[in-house]
Amino acid sequence: METFAVILGVLVAIAVLLFVLSRVLGSPQSEWVQADDRARALVEERIRPIGRLITDPDDLAVPVQVVEAAPPADEPEATTAMGGEAVYASACAVCHTQGVAGAPVTGDADGWAARIAQGMDILYQHSIEGFLGEAGYMPPKGGRMDLSDDEVRAAVDYMVERAGG
Ligand code: HEC
Repeated sequence: METFAVILGVLVAIAVLLFVLSRVLGSPQSEWVQADDRARALVEERIRPIGRLITDPDDLAVPVQVVEAAPPADEPEATTAMGGEAVYASACAVCHTQGVAGAPVTGDADGWAARIAQGMDILYQHSIEGFLGEAGYMPPKGGRMDLSDDEVRAAVDYMVERAGG
């Protein structure tokens, strides 16, 4: 029994010694680890969360193409405006292709000759402001008030071109 108590005491003493020794040796090591950027980075790499929200495009492994805003143009209206043919197709063709309600048919040179003879300014004005003539009623901008004046003018140019004028 006495021998057993001695062995037990020695074992406890060794355990305490090992504990103290590990603390003494361990603390300068952890200081050294914390002082070393590479070691810190390795530890952070191992303990980092599985997912990470990246809000800075520069941090992405595969960089995304950041779409640059188009440089402001001198006349923004002119750059976004539809071309004459597109305006005609969306706003004017419904009446002017078949001659609905007395509308002069696009491409009919005879039907347009007298109108073109008035001059482009009158044609523009009648198209933008609307016009009640002998043949019928031409609504302002063909009823499409969302069109800009320039878009309507472009459509008139397109129609006059098609009339051979
Ligand atoms: C609701 C049917 C209708 C639509 C849509 C329409 N027009 Fe007309 N347009 C007419 C009619 C009808 C006339 C003939 C009026 C008259 O001479 O009595 C006419 C005449 C015209 C004229 C000749 C004006 C003149 O002084 O002789 C032009 C130019 C014209 N339209 C352009 C356009 C353009 C551009 C658009 C589309 C933005 C358009 N129209 C859409 C019915 C329409």
